[in-house]
Amino acid sequence: MSAPTSQPTELGRELRDLAARLAFDAGELIESMRDEVDLIGDTKSSATDVVTAADKASERLIIEGLLAARPNDGILGEEGGDVDGTSGIRWLIDPIDGTTNYVYDVPAYSVSIAAESSRGIEAGVVYEPKAETMYDAIRDGGARRNGSTIHTTSKADLATSLVATGFGYSADRRRGQGQVIAELLPQIRDIRRFGSAALDLCFVAEGIVDAYFERGLNPWDLAAGWLVASEAGAVVGDLRGSDPSPEFTLAANPLLFEQLAEQLRTLGADQLP
Ligand code: IPD
Ligand code: CA
Repeated sequence: MSAPTSQPTELGRELRDLAARLAFDAGELIESMRDEVDLIGDTKSSATDVVTAADKASERLIIEGLLAARPNDGILGEEGGDVDGTSGIRWLIDPIDGTTNYVYDVPAYSVSIAAESSRGIEAGVVYEPKAETMYDAIRDGGARRNGSTIHTTSKADLATSLVATGFGYSADRRRGQGQVIAELLPQIRDIRRFGSAALDLCFVAEGIVDAYFERGLNPWDLAAGWLVASEAGAVVGDLRGSDPSPEFTLAANPLLFEQLAEQLRTLGADQLP
């Protein structure tokens, strides 16, 4: 193993600690709201895309906390948070990633907060309140689960790999995504659909699954988990040699990444509606 070429910055630690505190508080808030609110509040991009009062309250708590601690930072939140900053740091917030799971009380949902600079993501945290699990990462500083260092699997065999995925909210996209799964499933160990992209990326990071892919993520779904997965040793990208994006996100250990990318390219997984 070669010596690390870069070190995490003190700023990275500060950003991570702030994000972790707010993600924890937001997690407590959404748990406390479960019995108080009409959970299916509204829908967004389609009838299947739900948003609750808890999503909005969680985002409000996080934005207030960020602005109190760092008034000059920019912010982009899933539920409309949009603040121009002057510090060079911008926060990407998913106040509940996996809202459908939250509504049905399926445990796999999370609060995802990342801080980015012109270099990329500097710090990211994903908090899973039901499991009381905090994933975090600082750029060049490794990834952790509840304070312990985590790593991806080192599986090299696609045929025995466990692969997570997710589906968009539009019916047309889902039809295409279903066809990709129909072709891929016979070539791998099995598919998992947990329902929170941020957690899917953390599950690759800690080796609960060997890989994860999805078309159509938003920046707030992706940012924190991307850093956690890459700092845990995963390759995270699209299918054409670029960074992950709304077009496509694939995260896998370095031995699997290209094998799976090739299959997914062949199936046109990044060319769907
Ligand atoms: C969704 C979840 C889901 C993924 C969707 C996302 P939301 O986020 O991460 O797992 O498949 O693409 O939009 O709507 O629950 O915040
Ligand atoms: Ca979300």
